[in-house]
Amino acid sequence: MSTDSPSRENIHEMFDTISPTYDRVNRVITLGMDQMWRRKFRKFMPTGKSRLLDLATGTGDQILALVDLVDEAIGLDLAEDMLRIGQEKCRQYGDKVKMVCGSALKVPFEDQCFDVITMSFGIRNVTNPEIAFQEMVRVLKPGSRALILEGAMVKNSWIKPFHLFYLRKILPRLGGLFSGHKSAYNYLNQTIETFPCGQTFCDLMLKNGFKQAECHNYTFGSVRLYVGYT
Ligand SMILES: C[S@@+](CC[C@H](N)C(=O)[O-])C[C@H]1O[C@@H](n2cnc3c(N)ncnc32)[C@H](O)[C@@H]1O
Repeated sequence: MSTDSPSRENIHEMFDTISPTYDRVNRVITLGMDQMWRRKFRKFMPTGKSRLLDLATGTGDQILALVDLVDEAIGLDLAEDMLRIGQEKCRQYGDKVKMVCGSALKVPFEDQCFDVITMSFGIRNVTNPEIAFQEMVRVLKPGSRALILEGAMVKNSWIKPFHLFYLRKILPRLGGLFSGHKSAYNYLNQTIETFPCGQTFCDLMLKNGFKQAECHNYTFGSVRLYVGYT
């Protein structure tokens, strides 16, 4: 498959194409900070026995950052090659971690069966985020939460031009250099610039069934962690 101008409909095919280098490129383009951001979820995790669903799990890094806090974790993604890598990385946890091929827009699980849902750098890639929110609310138990991590534009007007320069000029080149697919990383930065963030994002969560939503900013707001309560 060509990675030129990927649309959200076939975005998982683009991720399959870049799967062999996905983790390495993530470390490079975030200067290793992606793993630190993933660990930010820890303080919002439920205590006690819990079952986690990680939507758009990709190669499973979000599960690996939380697996010691849960009894069971399921990763869901449409990209089979990404999932295969994730499965291999989680092999040491045996039956505690499962990888399932499926869509965040039609979650293949019954109502109210998860204690927590996570989704890192995934919501921006689905064709309809509002349906993803509705699916989260459907499969979460009442009184539980979804934790959604996503890239955004920084707020500070002094830093913003540097951030834009990085997103438009540096990130696609670095991504292209390390993955061989520059257009994939062009697409990724364009979606950061245009995707709803902050209160707009929280309002969308509320409109689609969450009872409460909050936003936590990291690294000048270039990454946001949204917590939605059911
Ligand atoms: C940027 S990657 C994030 C992977 C992983 N969560 C991480 O933090 O590295 C986005 C992932 O979203 C997946 N994806 C896109 N649309 C999806 C959908 N409708 N349902 C499930 N996964 C989807 C892609 O296949 C890809 O693996």
